[in-house]
Amino acid sequence: MFTFGFKKKETIKTAVEVPKHIAIIMDGNGRWAKKRMQPRIMGHKAGMDALQKVTKTASALGVKVLTVYAFSTENWSRPEKEVAFIMNLPVEFYDKYVPDLHANNVKIQMIGDHSRLPEATKAALYKAEQKTKNNTGLILNFALNYGGRAEVTSAVKAIAQDVLDGKLNPGDIDEKLIGDHLYTNSLPASFRDPDLVIRTSGELRLSNFLPWQTAYSELYFTDVAWPDFDGEALQLAIKEYNRRHRRFGGV
Ligand code: FPP
Repeated sequence: MFTFGFKKKETIKTAVEVPKHIAIIMDGNGRWAKKRMQPRIMGHKAGMDALQKVTKTASALGVKVLTVYAFSTENWSRPEKEVAFIMNLPVEFYDKYVPDLHANNVKIQMIGDHSRLPEATKAALYKAEQKTKNNTGLILNFALNYGGRAEVTSAVKAIAQDVLDGKLNPGDIDEKLIGDHLYTNSLPASFRDPDLVIRTSGELRLSNFLPWQTAYSELYFTDVAWPDFDGEALQLAIKEYNRRHRRFGGV
């Protein structure tokens, strides 16, 4: 708990609890570009710039994990050129932003099924992971070719195989074991579940994003398009989070 500057002229007087894990559905890039008479890909480029700024603010506030929905298993149905552009963003991100994030002690990780990603995309992400693997600050966790149902399906397959191989009794399957088989098993155990999920650009749904892990997350929706989302907008979301009373099913 600590106090932090909220707006230039306003300071939050009360102690603020910063969520340890924030997950963001970065929506609205296409509409943002259309409004400016630009091609959709310019919205994704602006979205990448916004991500850098928001990551730095989250890191300065003491957030431990920032999981960002960069590409879903459903996004392959977009026009080929748009998919290719998004797939190249990690390459651009590596050159333009990873050095600064590395200097800020940010650790880069990813979740999702990466077998289908282009080689150059995988290589850029792998380089970013390797370069930052010993950092101890905020974990920037990219969800790329991520789908929540695909994640649960792959966990169920692995568990079923262990039962078939005689390594596991069905009676031993519990919530912890399932959690240990999800992509988020790469995160520190106490930070796997998001405390706060933010979705930008006005849509009120989770779109197959972390269905297991968000069972008790606070949800925050804003009309702000992702490319316009900034550190101040993040602090507004955190302020709202502090108005919620998380009971986890208790009283
Ligand atoms: C959804 O907006 C956004 C995406 C599918 C892509 C998000 C990617 C980024 C913000 C860049 C991430 C950076 C790296 C390095 C991977 P939309 O296109 O669905 O917007 P719309 O609903 O207005 O059409």
